[in-house]
Amino acid sequence: MSSSTPDGRPAEVQPLWRRDFPIDLDQEQYVTRRDFTKFMVLTSLAFVVGQFSIALQSAIGSPPASQQVRQIGHLDKIAVGGAISFHYPGENDPCLLLRPDEHTLVAYSQKCTHLSCAVVPQMARKRLYCPCHEGSFDVSSGRPVAGPPRRPLPRIRLEVRDGAIFATGVEKSLA
Ligand code: FES
Repeated sequence: MSSSTPDGRPAEVQPLWRRDFPIDLDQEQYVTRRDFTKFMVLTSLAFVVGQFSIALQSAIGSPPASQQVRQIGHLDKIAVGGAISFHYPGENDPCLLLRPDEHTLVAYSQKCTHLSCAVVPQMARKRLYCPCHEGSFDVSSGRPVAGPPRRPLPRIRLEVRDGAIFATGVEKSLA
């Protein structure tokens, strides 16, 4: 195979960097094409492996934080007409557990859907009140009934087993 340089001058007068990397001009295209092909194959392979590991994780991994089951209280500890606070799914997610009557338990995120102020229960008026801009939400549905909020409070799914109350997930707030 004949050797050639980009400017056609002999190899001895080529710049030092070209002497350190003596790739013939004829082979330059070939190397680039080969590297490009290698790059494409490896990138595709990495993509396939990444997708496969995500699918595997979601198939066998633990549920996301917003669906983890955690005990948040006990029926003995919440009076009829009362409310207790808890955090779910994370430690920075304040929530309220409410017992408007003997047979009803509901729980909501405590963050107002207007600008995230903390809502406070006003059980006698069957509402959750936001003091920031006088918004309020219906206790039984979490829907806004007054003030600027337009979306309901995110509802926490509950389960009761032998008197123990568990949070089992966060329902998406429907507009
Ligand atoms: S933040 Fe609750 S009404 Fe504005």
